[in-house]
Amino acid sequence: MDNSSLFNEPKNITNHFNPQSDIVLFNGDTNNLIDTIPDNFVKLIITSPPYNLGKSYETQVSIKQYLKEQEQTISKLYRILRSDGSICWQVGNFVDKGEIYPLDIFYYQIFKELGFHLRNRIIWHFGHGLHTSKRFSGRYETILWFTKSDSYTFNLDPVRVPSKYPGKRHYKGPNKGKPSGNPKGKNPSDVWELLAKEWEDCFWDIPNVKSNHPEKTIHPCQFPVELVERCVLALTNKDDWVFDPYAGVGSSLIAAIKHNRRAIGSEQEFEYVNIIRERLGSFFNGTLRLRPLGKPVYKPTGKEKVSQVPPEWKEATQQKLLEEKEDYE
Ligand SMILES: C[S@@+](CC[C@H](N)C(=O)[O-])C[C@H]1O[C@@H](n2cnc3c(N)ncnc32)[C@H](O)[C@@H]1O
Repeated sequence: MDNSSLFNEPKNITNHFNPQSDIVLFNGDTNNLIDTIPDNFVKLIITSPPYNLGKSYETQVSIKQYLKEQEQTISKLYRILRSDGSICWQVGNFVDKGEIYPLDIFYYQIFKELGFHLRNRIIWHFGHGLHTSKRFSGRYETILWFTKSDSYTFNLDPVRVPSKYPGKRHYKGPNKGKPSGNPKGKNPSDVWELLAKEWEDCFWDIPNVKSNHPEKTIHPCQFPVELVERCVLALTNKDDWVFDPYAGVGSSLIAAIKHNRRAIGSEQEFEYVNIIRERLGSFFNGTLRLRPLGKPVYKPTGKEKVSQVPPEWKEATQQKLLEEKEDYE
């Protein structure tokens, strides 16, 4: 989508809720901001809440206490969400002494009891990440997409992806011989691999891949803007309000503004709020580096150093192949 019209355009940014502004950027506890937002106001709430993992910005508490606090915030969010609005809650696992607690399982109960309706449990699949030694390495997180009612915005066309086999045709019935797909592309499905794979391993030749992603800042768990863009385009319309209660370095705000929506973000850390301001500034003057929405995932050619078997492993690899061949015979 062309966003050049936004560059250099003065946007009205306020540090407290104001329905006349284009962007609300609040530095403080999200609960304090939510209390100032009217009922039925926001079209999309999209966030990755703190996971209670003891990251630099959180104090770890018991999972019971963590969920109790989150439930209080989510019930406030219910109040400010429009009746045709959506909430996208992106979470991974809480880990305690090697035991994992998939947070979406716990969150589902909270949302369901408040009256939300689950539309998708989206799997955000990572190609790479930490390797664990006592369980299989975790390679996905989830996004729970709930609506407040049965009447909600869902724009499929702006988020369609190219079909794998656009030349497929109906082989029987009244449309026999006609193309069976949609010329605008196919539904992106509930497994979002494309975004995360590239996020993790965008440049295979560079060892520290994360810090080389065009969007990466100092935040330890930042959203790719593209992930939010897909939700913004599908679940809101122009001028709608998008709110990220745990805004981090503002990826949701950028995604919203890029597509001519209005944005609200709250973030408790002053340092991150400053980065949001810088990123918004760079966005408006056209210098923010963003991975373009829908850009194909980089596929290693096999020639990159990091996709080749290290010479010192060659003997072990050949030995393993021989053993497998013998087992098979
Ligand atoms: C998982 S991160 C979100 C990252 C974000 N999605 C991004 O792309 O940068 C959660 C953020 O919530 C903030 N946070 C935690 N508790 C908060 C609260 N009560 N009010 C406002 N912000 C809070 C943390 O400082 C952290 O930056």
